[in-house]
Amino acid sequence: MKKVTKAVIPAAGLGTRVLPATKAMPKEMLPIVDKPAIQYIVEEAVQSGITDILIITNRGKDLIEDHFDRVPELEAKLSGSMEKNEVLEEVIGISRLANIYFLRQKETKGLGHAVSCARSFIGDEPFAVLYGDDVIIGDDPACGQLIRAYEEFGKGVLGVKQVAPEAISKYSSLAVTPIRDNLFHCTDMVEKPTPEQVLSLYSILGRCVLTPDIFDVLDQTAPGAGGEIQLTDAMRTLARTTGMVAVEFTGKRYDMGNKLGILEACVEVGLSHPVIGEDFRQYLKNLAKTL
Ligand code: UTP
Repeated sequence: MKKVTKAVIPAAGLGTRVLPATKAMPKEMLPIVDKPAIQYIVEEAVQSGITDILIITNRGKDLIEDHFDRVPELEAKLSGSMEKNEVLEEVIGISRLANIYFLRQKETKGLGHAVSCARSFIGDEPFAVLYGDDVIIGDDPACGQLIRAYEEFGKGVLGVKQVAPEAISKYSSLAVTPIRDNLFHCTDMVEKPTPEQVLSLYSILGRCVLTPDIFDVLDQTAPGAGGEIQLTDAMRTLARTTGMVAVEFTGKRYDMGNKLGILEACVEVGLSHPVIGEDFRQYLKNLAKTL
């Protein structure tokens, strides 16, 4: 079985739910305390054994490319000072995380279409998809949990969690049967279900491992919910034919595609930050007294 060493990060969405912040700034570059969301995602991929990452961008997302590049002027400035050495290493380290490639999705035709743009990069290998606005923080990287399931079952794998009944219509809904512990067979799914279409409260949250046969299916997939080519619709074909595996991953997932999700990420990561965490906790305690 081929190892999973490649990943695709679709980051070409318009981020309309985070306007006006995302008018000129890619939502993937929104910081959680001191690091842009997409860096957390790249780090998770690298910790999961991924060596080659294709980030799907579009017009106006050049900042993402700049973030993973070297910055000689900044590095020269930092290298002059002893106490800035750690920052210097961190800044240079970002450009060395992995082999990172960029490709523009020329039209915003949906997540499925964005993934299909990765076809020639992926070739005939299994690969991970990490949605560019879903940050997952935990001791065991979520992408790695999915890769282990792929290695065990040899099928496409979905990263799932249960969502609230009132929220399921905004997500996908999966038909699942237990295998063991946090592993399930998935035989069907539906994107943005109406109340009658809900199959379960298990939903795909930002991570999957796919086999290259997804590309032929994507080519045949017509626009679905929202007029977009939905990755879920293509994966449904795989789930119904070869079957897929769902992993209820550990780790906390933050939705950086909506305003409340961004605030939750900043507060929780801020509280556990090694430098400012304690001061921030004190600040929040004092603030809470006034609420
Ligand atoms: P979303 O639907 O959450 O992103 O797609 P969006 O389109 O930016 O959201 P709105 O406008 O606030 O509703 C999930 C992921 O797929 C990427 C997005 O960047 C996000 O990481 N995506 C979506 C693409 O790469 N291309 C697309 O055409 C659509």
